[in-house]
Amino acid sequence: MTSYILAIDQGTTSSRAIVFDAACGVVATAQQEFAQHFPDSGWVEHDPEDLWRTTVETCRQAMEKAGATASEIAGIGITNQRETTVVWDRKSGKPLHNAIVWQDRRTAPICQALKAKGLESQVTARTGLLLDPYFSGTKVAWILDNVEGARARAEAGDLAFGTVDCFLLWRLTGGAVHATDATNASRTLLFNIHEGDWDEELLEIFRVPRSVLPDVRDCAADFGESLPDLFGGAIRIAGIAGDQQAATVGQACFSPGMMKSTYGTGCFALLNTGPQSVISRNRMLTTIAYQLDGKRSYALEGSIFIAGAAVQWLRDGLGVIDSAEQTAEMADLADPAQQVYLVPAFTGLGAPHWDADARGALFGLTRKTGPNELARAALEAVCYQTRDLLEAMQGDWTDASGAKTVLRVDGGMVASDWTLQFLADILHSPVDRPTILETTALGAAYLAGRQVELYGDLDDFAKLWHLDRRFMPHMNENQRAAKYAGWKDAVGRVRSGR
Ligand code: G3P
Repeated sequence: MTSYILAIDQGTTSSRAIVFDAACGVVATAQQEFAQHFPDSGWVEHDPEDLWRTTVETCRQAMEKAGATASEIAGIGITNQRETTVVWDRKSGKPLHNAIVWQDRRTAPICQALKAKGLESQVTARTGLLLDPYFSGTKVAWILDNVEGARARAEAGDLAFGTVDCFLLWRLTGGAVHATDATNASRTLLFNIHEGDWDEELLEIFRVPRSVLPDVRDCAADFGESLPDLFGGAIRIAGIAGDQQAATVGQACFSPGMMKSTYGTGCFALLNTGPQSVISRNRMLTTIAYQLDGKRSYALEGSIFIAGAAVQWLRDGLGVIDSAEQTAEMADLADPAQQVYLVPAFTGLGAPHWDADARGALFGLTRKTGPNELARAALEAVCYQTRDLLEAMQGDWTDASGAKTVLRVDGGMVASDWTLQFLADILHSPVDRPTILETTALGAAYLAGRQVELYGDLDDFAKLWHLDRRFMPHMNENQRAAKYAGWKDAVGRVRSGR
């Protein structure tokens, strides 16, 4: 009986594995955090061996907890932190360098130089992205230029590049499959999202040899089989999507105008625009939401680099909290008379500012400011940033179609009622939390399950989405306006080049 799907969710701060049953219900989960490396200001790296090890271990743990053997698992779906770049040797499978994480800003000068050559509009027209170090293209070039002999080995066809899905797939299949899916490809700056293929001119601009690139497939596709030794038998790998796109699928945002926002390490809001790619006038990204049966659905995306990572900083950096769960209770106890703002631009600012050189700051500190006020400021910052994104995106979308959006939220932080109430208040619109919060893994599981024909079509899957709670705005207009104005002022103060 093959009646389970194993979803791998390789994220920025942890690797997770979740076993789903034939009705898309969660049977067992396992999670492991791994080390973050910060070798320089604004640099963020992961050891690819950590990503691989924690992925395999969590898969084994989840399977054991579920009591599921390899022969009972119909397929594996992979979802992953996007843009993070790995380059490895095709023969040994060994990475040449630590993975350069999406948050890493080291290639800001390369982006600046390309902008100065007037290339941004051409790049945006083809990729839907901006010239920012966030994306993979300049990270690949950095590795090829900074690891001795790498460029020559790449030209000779000895090296492979991949985002994390692709690296894991390579390892899972013992080097038999070097492939990725269209959503991950759409985050590299090397992929033409309108043609659905790697783009020769972009490869030239970013100086990336075609020989390092993976094959690009649909999100639900045949990606080979895992090595039998890994999980006690071979398992088909049948689905891949970048984590934000997987969450869009998991939230069943299948109709144009539907929108989700996921609160993990960062925060990413995606608005489905259907088969039509909408080019933003507000510095949002255009990206592939999913590709099924060769057909692409697009999304507008707003990306914030630090959401849960601000809470992690309170815990691991400042040591003012013991666990992330404490923050909501602390925020509730914070002194209402103090207005402390945290601008968490630890690795620059993402949408809509795209300011790689901005750095974080705290404003409004007094002698009475303590951990509670800091916790509240961290949670509020996530909500203010969401409003920044939604205002920009809704501008783009309303202009294009006149339709209204529906916001569905997910990710670790939305377990907190306090945060979602503040979010609804500051957005001045309802916020919907679904019953299943594992939407990212669910999306990956659905893609694999669809491919192996355990799960039905999009409409059937959408029927499984249920509302847990709708948060309605309560804050009065004056307070909302004053708080948001304070945020705008604080962000203005951290911008570089002021
Ligand atoms: O684009 C980066 C994003 O995919 C990372 O997601 O969930 O690890 O914060 P997360």
